[in-house]
Amino acid sequence: MDFKIAVLKGDGIGPEIVNEAIKVLDKIGEKFGHKFNYEQGYLGGESIDKFGKPLTDETVELCKNSDAVLLGAVGGPKWDVIDPAIRPEKGLLGIRKALELYTNLRPAILYNALKDASPLKPEIIGDGLDMMVIRELTGGLYFGKKELTKDYAYDTMYYTRGEIERIVKKGFEIARLRSKKLTSVEKANVLDSSKLWKEVAIEMGKDYPDVELIHMYADNAAMQLVINPRQFDTIVTENTFGDILSDEASMLTGSIGMLPSASLGDGKVGLYEPIHGSAPDIAGKGIANPIATILSVAMMLRYSFNLTEEADTIEKAVEAVLNEGYRTGDIYSEGTKKVGTVEMGELIKERL
Ligand code: NAD
Ligand code: IPM
Ligand code: MN
Repeated sequence: MDFKIAVLKGDGIGPEIVNEAIKVLDKIGEKFGHKFNYEQGYLGGESIDKFGKPLTDETVELCKNSDAVLLGAVGGPKWDVIDPAIRPEKGLLGIRKALELYTNLRPAILYNALKDASPLKPEIIGDGLDMMVIRELTGGLYFGKKELTKDYAYDTMYYTRGEIERIVKKGFEIARLRSKKLTSVEKANVLDSSKLWKEVAIEMGKDYPDVELIHMYADNAAMQLVINPRQFDTIVTENTFGDILSDEASMLTGSIGMLPSASLGDGKVGLYEPIHGSAPDIAGKGIANPIATILSVAMMLRYSFNLTEEADTIEKAVEAVLNEGYRTGDIYSEGTKKVGTVEMGELIKERL
């Protein structure tokens, strides 16, 4: 089959990691008889440099007219000083909103070979860590009313019942396909938006009697993730809590460079990106871990193209390379073999 993929490489390590993911995708195409056609668009800092804004109508159109979007990362010190209204990150939020991608799936899976790379003690991290963080992506503090003046500033964590219902429903549906345990994370002891969130979760839970529903405050969830991470299976939470908790969950797997994501809506276009940023501190050095982006492409095959075998093939190739002891710097430990971004991409491609 033929697929059209919009490619937004972005800033910092974005181009380096996306190039490796494309290599892997092309090899999958050869092996399984698919044709992936790429069309490049601009987002974030590179778009500011070219067009004076982080997201153009052309990029939005390109994404809307594609079968899926592959994204690297945006942002960097070069654009930190300019008008906050045209920061690179605004472009990322803009494309998520324009495509109505309200469901962000961030799976945190610890590969056996990476137990040493996890900062947690072996007895705490244990075996078989596999959780799915579902982050609401188009509401909350990111998109609520906000104002910045010299003397005061505010952001509003605004949610409608409908916005909460649709993401919590995703939580139940996904938990049902996994181990039937859903942790709804909020701060209903303090925040009104969380009170509504919890109320919706309880109501909706009546339709899913087979799924165990657990309510947890966000601060406790942050603590529980490091003291007893394997209690979690599926987590559903609002935008900001999900942003923070997924970075934390990523470290359980050894590195933020390991965590892919899928951003989905009810429309046809999904967006796939690593959860990490543009890593300006290592950009251009050829040492970034491309695995999060390569695994994001596997999610694209699974969720947008329904190509399960192809997605499995990528995930198995990643596992094989890790089992053989190859590591980028972020997941390196003594006795393993250190490789750069391109070499890691090549190794995974060869194992497909
Ligand atoms: P970051 O995720 O870019 O980096 C945090 C740390 O993790 C750095 O030390 C970095 O070197 C390391 N790291 C990240 N990805 C890595 C990889 N693939 N391999 C090895 N190490 C990796 O977060 P930050 O430093 O807070 O943000 C830098 C810029 O990226 C900012 O402008 C921020 O707004 C932006 N950002 C963008 C996205 C996105 O595009 N989705 C996500 C987060 C941050
Ligand atoms: C992420 C990033 C973004 C977010 C920023 C860059 C806007 O941290 O994708 O996790 O906060 O959503
Ligand atoms: Mn983040």
